[in-house]
Amino acid sequence: MGQISREKIISLLAREEKKFAADRPKSKQMFERAKNCYVGGTPMSWMRIWMGGFPVFVEKAEGATLWDVDGNKYVDLCLGDTGALCGHAHPEVTAALSEQFGKGITHMLPTEDSLWVGEELTRRFGLPYWQILMTASDANRMALKAAREVTGRKLILAFNFSYHGSVDETLCVSLMGNMMHIPGAMGPIVANPASTTRVVEFNDVAALEKALEPRDIACVITEPVMTNVGIIYPDPGYHEALRAITERTGTLLLIDETHCICGGPAGMTGEWGLKPDILVLGKPVAGGFPAAVLGFNEAIASKLASRIPWHMFFGFGGTLSGNAAAVAGIKASLTHALTRENFDRMIPLAQQMENGIAELIKEFELGWYVARIGCRVEFRFLPDPPRKGSDTLNDAPYNSVDIFNDGLSGPLEKLIHVYCANRGILLTPVHEMALVGPATTIEDIKLYLAALRELIAEIA
Ligand SMILES: Cc1ncc(COP(=O)(O)O)c(C=O)c1O
Repeated sequence: MGQISREKIISLLAREEKKFAADRPKSKQMFERAKNCYVGGTPMSWMRIWMGGFPVFVEKAEGATLWDVDGNKYVDLCLGDTGALCGHAHPEVTAALSEQFGKGITHMLPTEDSLWVGEELTRRFGLPYWQILMTASDANRMALKAAREVTGRKLILAFNFSYHGSVDETLCVSLMGNMMHIPGAMGPIVANPASTTRVVEFNDVAALEKALEPRDIACVITEPVMTNVGIIYPDPGYHEALRAITERTGTLLLIDETHCICGGPAGMTGEWGLKPDILVLGKPVAGGFPAAVLGFNEAIASKLASRIPWHMFFGFGGTLSGNAAAVAGIKASLTHALTRENFDRMIPLAQQMENGIAELIKEFELGWYVARIGCRVEFRFLPDPPRKGSDTLNDAPYNSVDIFNDGLSGPLEKLIHVYCANRGILLTPVHEMALVGPATTIEDIKLYLAALRELIAEIA
């Protein structure tokens, strides 16, 4: 394996951060000003996790291109961490939203578009009944409440180091046999995470079976492929086992497609013919306008509808949920952006990106791996693809994180992001993750691969 020195990475990072700041005086100044009115200096905490010392402030974005307030232009491979998977300012989505804006954004009444949307979601994902919420976090929270309501069971099961949004019950991990809230979770959420959640490793059928056997778990929540600590594929037969064990123990199965929608127009549920009881999809479902969809099987829907008068169900969603603009955005994105035709173009481009990175890893003997789900490509500083969440804790030593001084990313990760930004490429922060959207071109991918090659040649 090739040798990479941590010292070399740190000195290059200093050089690149200097250039990053010099080329972005307006963003830097805006960030300094924003620190006086926003907690941590940004309207939302994750806008602060970009590398370089401060986030770039956006002037505008279109398709796969983004311009900052200093006039720098970027190929946007982050695409709002999947929120903008359809591409920024997608023409048909923008037109549909604008038309609906002119007719009222929110009325607490349904529109005719909602009929098309409900019927299309059933056709795409197979589940018969739907609700529309504002975010995937919202939808997962509501789904878990509904699962408890219909099963009368209190606990949920989440996989170790999975992420499903700001959902307290899922922000739990098991470290060296101890259940705890994930470090950094806002909290403490409840005194004892074991009172809400059981955690097992992904791909461990025996552990799953043991955890569900007491028949006190309302719902297993999972992504088809784990995405939030790197891409972790299920072993062959894992989903079949998961479905069989959940059915046998009377446990509901929630599939969260919020990131795996990058696998195809019906996500990996569609690609693999999965049969969840509950399905959640947020982020890009309305082309980036806030919206999420939550699907239920027949039995859950009829229990929910009859349990108490459904319209008097408190604690589920909110006044703005299912608003007319969100519904119009969903209709437009499902019709024009999240289409088979678009995925058939995006996925081969992502394959070219994956192949290019694999060649670099091989040529420079880096001992890293690269993985892909549909149009999502990610590499990590580990020799082998992980099979479970905790496998990803063993990042390469030259990238090791000092969580209190460094934040979430190690120095190599920071260097890659700042280096790419200085060469006109935005990657998703905290990941070496890139998304190919409908407007991404082969030239964009070549630019990214060239920047990576230049960087690796400097450090390896
Ligand atoms: C798999 C998954 N589900 C749900 C969410 C929550 O989405 P949001 O932050 O839009 O509520 C995320 C966020 O990254 C996610 O990765």
